[in-house]
Amino acid sequence: MKKIVLFFSLLLLILGCAENVKKKEDSITGRAWWKEGIIYQIYPRSFKDSDGDGIGDLEGVIEKLDYIESLGVNMVWMNPIYSSPNADNGYDISDYRGIMEDFGDMEDFDRMLKGLHERGIKFVMDVVVNHSSDEHEWFKQSRSSRDNPYRDYYHWWPAEKGKPPYRYSLFDPKGEAWKYDSLTDAYYLHYFAQKQPDLNWENPKVRQEVYDIMKFWAEKGVDGFRLDAFQYASKDTTWPELPEGFEKNVIKHYGMQPNIHKYLKEMNEEVLSKYNVFAVSEGAGSTFEDAHSLVDADRKELQMAYHFEGMDVGNSLEGYKLSEFKEVYTKWDSAFAKKGWLSIFLANHDVPRMVSKFGNDSSAFRAVSSKMLNTFILTMRGTPYCYYGDEIGMTNIGFDSISQYRDIAAINGYEKAKTQGADLDAYMAELKFLSRDNGRTPMQWDTTAHAGFTTGDPWLPVNKNYKTVNVAVEQKDPNSCLNYFRKIVQLRRDNPVFVYGEYNLLLPGHEQLYAYTRSLGEQQVLVVLNFSEKPATAILPLGDSPELMINNYPELDRSASTVLLKPYQALVFNIRD
Ligand code: GLC
Repeated sequence: MKKIVLFFSLLLLILGCAENVKKKEDSITGRAWWKEGIIYQIYPRSFKDSDGDGIGDLEGVIEKLDYIESLGVNMVWMNPIYSSPNADNGYDISDYRGIMEDFGDMEDFDRMLKGLHERGIKFVMDVVVNHSSDEHEWFKQSRSSRDNPYRDYYHWWPAEKGKPPYRYSLFDPKGEAWKYDSLTDAYYLHYFAQKQPDLNWENPKVRQEVYDIMKFWAEKGVDGFRLDAFQYASKDTTWPELPEGFEKNVIKHYGMQPNIHKYLKEMNEEVLSKYNVFAVSEGAGSTFEDAHSLVDADRKELQMAYHFEGMDVGNSLEGYKLSEFKEVYTKWDSAFAKKGWLSIFLANHDVPRMVSKFGNDSSAFRAVSSKMLNTFILTMRGTPYCYYGDEIGMTNIGFDSISQYRDIAAINGYEKAKTQGADLDAYMAELKFLSRDNGRTPMQWDTTAHAGFTTGDPWLPVNKNYKTVNVAVEQKDPNSCLNYFRKIVQLRRDNPVFVYGEYNLLLPGHEQLYAYTRSLGEQQVLVVLNFSEKPATAILPLGDSPELMINNYPELDRSASTVLLKPYQALVFNIRD
């Protein structure tokens, strides 16, 4: 009898809780699946090689689908997998409907997508349409003659008009964005590398081609698009002279040209509104207004953007001030509290490893500071983007010689520094810390050769710490970064307060602690993160009976409202239900 009573009491409790969660969820306005998503970013070249050529591939991802599922993430964004001569690791596309040979073929893609969908994981495709490869058929046609029908697919400046007005290129060894092409005695524009000519978005035919490509992938079942370098797509084709030094802030000077909104509305109408897909813009202009103009729902353009201001903090070899970091994240949160939606991330394929930049990658603090940073990403408002390898606390590789680098930005940047007579030691020191190759080394799966990434020679060396920092070892350790990551992901998925809750910063000037509350309806949680290698004490509004939701240490040192945090400790309390 007792058992039956207990059973029914438990049942009522569970039903009561479920009812509570349901009530809470019903009261949230503006819900969307892409807001509730947790994105895992895969750099396919470095994730898992299945055929021993040293380069990751789609079959490798298929082998690891169960691992991805085990993380608890519900979305995957993959860097470009289209056919490409690889001048910029796939960001130079020669066929937007083909799969890069190194990565496999369309049959592999279909199986991978199916495997993700079967596991309830959505898939986001990288769309690189500010530029194509110079080996794309459009460009081959375009450069062949001045009256070719594809001529206006790109930007050309006839040489008889003299030199074109200076435009800065991010990857050019001379920094020049116009490249002379003798075939038709004209210059073409490339904001990135010479092999990445800019597409002419002012040409309606180009835009139609892009929408057709997006529809092709949407029909295949992809769930989202990441628009690469999109803020540069539209251009002022009168090519006005720009003020001296404009190259220090190209986004302000030639990003976000007014027509961009016309094109995005068109894209929304033609593609985004027709499928259950979302789109995120890489970059958000240079002001909050710019960012709002991209993502506010009533504008019917994109659903999400990511800004770079957070990434700009911490780019100095001297480190960064926590108060500055907090200020950046707080002001972006406030600006989007009522309208619009952003992403939240600390790393991707264009920046160093999160723990080496914002945490502490020494052996004493690597694991604990990785966990703390993951706690930050997964308890803030905005859709979290978690970069492959950060779940196990992978670190910068820190190359010393330029011959070790594979990234075109590093190699051409070095050329430029040399030509300009810059201090090469300083350039190399900066590269060692900030280079994009730091974040692109192969995924560390186990303790076997090359961390189990490949049976061949990896395209980029594996970090030497792979014997301790790897999935197999961390899998077995209940206190590992990996298992902590799974817990914090689950915590976010179980508590809408982390997705939709209002954010409120505490202790703004504190240089060690980042503390904030998130509140949704009756519920309030408190997040306290020690960003330093020293202990820190704080008096916090813990309420009467705070429930500890997660802790990256086994113990908690607290009396009433005073909490003593150990180095890089991360604590999350439920302070009101
Ligand atoms: C974006 C990508 C970067 C690439 C560049 C050019 O910034 O994230 O990796 O090099 O666009 O496509």
